[in-house]
Amino acid sequence: MSATARKSAPMPQDIMAMKGGTPIVSLTAYTTPMAELMDGICDFVLVGDSVGMVLHGLPSTLGVTMEMMILHGQAVRRGLTKTMMVMDMPFGSYEESPEQAFRNAARLMAETDAGAVKLEGGQEMAETIAFLTSRGVPVMAHIGLTPQSINTLGGYKVQGRGAAAAGLMADAKAVAEAGAFAVVLEKTPESLADKVTKAIDIPTIGIGASANCDGQILVVDDMLGLFTAFKAKFVKRFAHLGDDARAAIEAYAEEVRARSFPGPEHVFGDEAPKPKT
Ligand code: KIV
Repeated sequence: MSATARKSAPMPQDIMAMKGGTPIVSLTAYTTPMAELMDGICDFVLVGDSVGMVLHGLPSTLGVTMEMMILHGQAVRRGLTKTMMVMDMPFGSYEESPEQAFRNAARLMAETDAGAVKLEGGQEMAETIAFLTSRGVPVMAHIGLTPQSINTLGGYKVQGRGAAAAGLMADAKAVAEAGAFAVVLEKTPESLADKVTKAIDIPTIGIGASANCDGQILVVDDMLGLFTAFKAKFVKRFAHLGDDARAAIEAYAEEVRARSFPGPEHVFGDEAPKPKT
C-alpha cells in the first residue's frame, strides 16, 4: 500500500495488513503545520509524549499530562486527512488498572478523533491491552526502551541484550496475543529486533532497532535537526532546520539594529494605492 496514493486515512487494520510488505512510515507530530507536511506521506503520525521534552522543555516525558496530549492531539488532527493519528497515553494515565486505561483512552480518542492509542509496556500491560481492544480502542504497544520507565530502567539504555532478550521476546508475543495492532520496538539490538519481527504477526515499528522492522518511526524535531539538546545514535538528521532558524534570527536581529528592516516594500503609504486600470 502506498501512502502517497491514498485518498483517506488508513485504519489500524490497514497498518496491520502492511506486515511484511512495504515498510510503514511514521513520525511524531505536535502541531497543525507539521501534521500538514506529513499528511499523505506518513502512514501514521504519532502524537508522542516526547512533546514534553521537544516542545515544552521538560527533562523527561514523565511530566506530560492528559491535557497537554489532548491540546496537541487536536492540533495535529486538524492537519491530517490522509494519515492516521495515534495518541500516546501519558505516564500515570493507564498503569493503575484496565478501567483507568479505558477511561483515559476513550477520552483521548473522543476529544482528539484519534484512530488509536499507544501505551508503554509488555507482559505487564497485556491484560490492559486486551481490555481496551475488546472495547473499541485500537492499541499500539511500545516495548524495549520505554522512556516513561527511565527511573526503573536506570536511564536510556539499550534493552534486550544477553539474558534480557528472552524477556523482550516474551513482551512482544504478549502484546501481540493481547490484540495490539502494532508494536514500537525502541533501542533494542538489531538481531533481536529481526527475531521479534519474524516471531510475531503484527508489524514492528523500529526506533533504534533494525531496518528489517515492518516500519520506522522518529521524533520529527530530531530528524529535522530542530531538537538538538542531545542526539541519540539512532537519530539521523535529514535536515538542519535548527541551524537555519538560528541564522535567520541572527539576520533579522542585525537588520532591525541597522534599521534596514522593515524596508520600503514592507511599509504603508498615507494614501491607498490607485486601482489598476
Ligand atoms: O513519544 C514518542 O515520541 C515516542 C516515539 C519515540 C516512539 O514514543
